[in-house]
Amino acid sequence: MRLHGKATIITGAADGIGRGIAIKFAQEGADSLLVDLNKAGVEETARLAGAHGYTPKTMVADISDRTLQGKIIQRAIDEFGVLDILVNNAGVVFVAPFAEFPTDKLHRIMEVNLKAPFLLSQHAARYWIEAKRPGRIVSTSSINAESVQANSVAYSASKGALRMLTKAMAFDLGPHGITCNAVGPGHTRTGMTRPGHAADPTREAKSAAVIPLRRIGEPQDIANAVAFLASSEASYVTGQTIYVEGGRIIWA
Ligand SMILES: NC(=O)c1ccc[n+]([C@@H]2O[C@H](COP(=O)([O-])OP(=O)(O)OC[C@H]3O[C@@H](n4cnc5c(N)ncnc54)[C@H](O)[C@@H]3O)[C@@H](O)[C@H]2O)c1
Repeated sequence: MRLHGKATIITGAADGIGRGIAIKFAQEGADSLLVDLNKAGVEETARLAGAHGYTPKTMVADISDRTLQGKIIQRAIDEFGVLDILVNNAGVVFVAPFAEFPTDKLHRIMEVNLKAPFLLSQHAARYWIEAKRPGRIVSTSSINAESVQANSVAYSASKGALRMLTKAMAFDLGPHGITCNAVGPGHTRTGMTRPGHAADPTREAKSAAVIPLRRIGEPQDIANAVAFLASSEASYVTGQTIYVEGGRIIWA
């Protein structure tokens, strides 16, 4: 119960890694507000997480909507009396060759993967500074913050920027006792990588072959690292991106 009673917001919690984080946080005793566009999915996550502990609250919202970002933070404070942890997990991907990359997809990826974590973190930081509370921000980055694949220009740029956002926020917010870290998954079995999604359905076997640990990740692999970074065990860790990817990055 490393997160007992910790008031937490988890974005992108209707599926995949976010669902895994929600379940892990329930097991660790957190009180969570799950935010997602997908109403049925986020309610199902709350039901699954509730079987392990406190049943999370849910909020259907587009995290890129400027009129909702402050309300998401306030909703958690209203529900729990405080906010302790913000998990910026929601993300989107679109693959296309650089020369043909659609401008609207570029904007969408930057809005969801970079600007929303920036602005949600800013709202949370203002609250923590005002309330003199030590907050924790953990964002879901990607190995694409360090390495690239074909046709992933906008996604890689967004995750690379999220890595530097994490470092820069850590620098500015450290004196307030607020830590900012990220987890960088490699290929993980989720909706984003399911066959039929934007990704190539044969990727799973191809990926496993070039991962030293010879398997792709599961959402709980990522959730374990997020829980550590959100816990008091990581109170002297800030500005870091921890890659959870079976050793993929070290493969030349
Ligand atoms: N699956 C992988 O292999 C992998 C690898 C590296 C990084 N990631 C990152 O992990 C995070 C979670 O991805 P996933 O694989 O679980 O994907 P997923 O598609 O399974 O889940 C993403 C969730 O985010 C929600 N979402 C998307 N845009 C939103 C918005 N604007 N507002 C609110 N909710 C929104 C979706 O509805 C969905 O429930 C993302 O940041 C992704 O970039 C995934």
